[in-house]
Amino acid sequence: MVKELVIVRPDDWHLHLRDEDLLPITVNESAKSFARAIIMPNLVPPITKLVDAKSYKHRIMKALKPNLSFIPLMTLYMTEETDPREVEKGFMNGLISAVKLYPAGATTNSQSGVKNFEKIKPVLEIMAEIGCPLCIHGEVTDSNIDIFDREKVFINTVLEKIRTDNPTLKVIIEHITTKDAVDYVIAGKNNLAATITTHHLAINRNDLLAGGIKPHFYCLPVVKREDHRLALVEAAVSGSPKFFLGTDSAPHLDHDKESSCGCAGCFTATNTLEILAHIFEERSALNKLELFTSINGAEFYEKNINTDKIKLIKKDKPVSFPKKLSTPLGKITIFKPNFETKWQVLA
Ligand code: DOR
Ligand code: ZN
Repeated sequence: MVKELVIVRPDDWHLHLRDEDLLPITVNESAKSFARAIIMPNLVPPITKLVDAKSYKHRIMKALKPNLSFIPLMTLYMTEETDPREVEKGFMNGLISAVKLYPAGATTNSQSGVKNFEKIKPVLEIMAEIGCPLCIHGEVTDSNIDIFDREKVFINTVLEKIRTDNPTLKVIIEHITTKDAVDYVIAGKNNLAATITTHHLAINRNDLLAGGIKPHFYCLPVVKREDHRLALVEAAVSGSPKFFLGTDSAPHLDHDKESSCGCAGCFTATNTLEILAHIFEERSALNKLELFTSINGAEFYEKNINTDKIKLIKKDKPVSFPKKLSTPLGKITIFKPNFETKWQVLA
């Protein structure tokens, strides 16, 4: 039985760090395990301009403890007004690694996102030309569409058209939640990939809803039924270069989640690798963990593979994690699935 695992230091290809009082905590929590992360731009106001991305990057680096190293890979938040020249400049000079597309109203701070997809055609054309990846929150926002169907409908109605119009565009469907998305990504060419979160691999909608609603399991896209979770696990452990880790670790204060209208997001930065090791081991796929966490994403984004390694060890007993993170604004609950893990990352 494997008791020790050494893998290339992971990257997180989808992360929310927020800003100001939360930054010192979120940045350093991720930097303990991850070398780099794609930083989501859904701040208030959102990061829509290169000048904003530059100063946000500076704030992130300032918040990083001197004994840790971490590279934030910045993104721009796409609006209907995004200037293609701005994207070209930022991608070519290395400030941004991708552009993030939120359909307006799909999730936290997405009000400035896109309603009319015709308006972003010129930006998508430039991105396809220069090889700048498009990260997509893949859900329609039409209130007539059932929330459990929003990913599938987005793929069929919006994404398929974007990809047909821009056949060379690099597209990452973020935080996929359905078997439909897995099948769509597998069927696509190799400029189509997907990130999968820790929580979507660990819980299903029964965990969220049966026996009482669990606000700390609520995220968007919402977790689906068990057969969809199993399809995600299958994709993650397959080793396919089209699937890689994007934790979507998204801090919200407890009082905002434990509310009559709770915020969406699970905070998984603290224990993601330990949870993933458990899931991969259960599928006899520990040898594929490194591809999912440390190789596939870097290759898709055409970044170097990290040179340093991390070690995970398997304890005889389940490992315990802190339940909460303390921040100057209040507590944040750390995601805890309905199973325990014996794996631990050595600091
Ligand atoms: O659950 C989520 N939380 N999904 C998202 O798409 C956004 C994120 C957040 O920013 O809180
Ligand atoms: Zn996100």
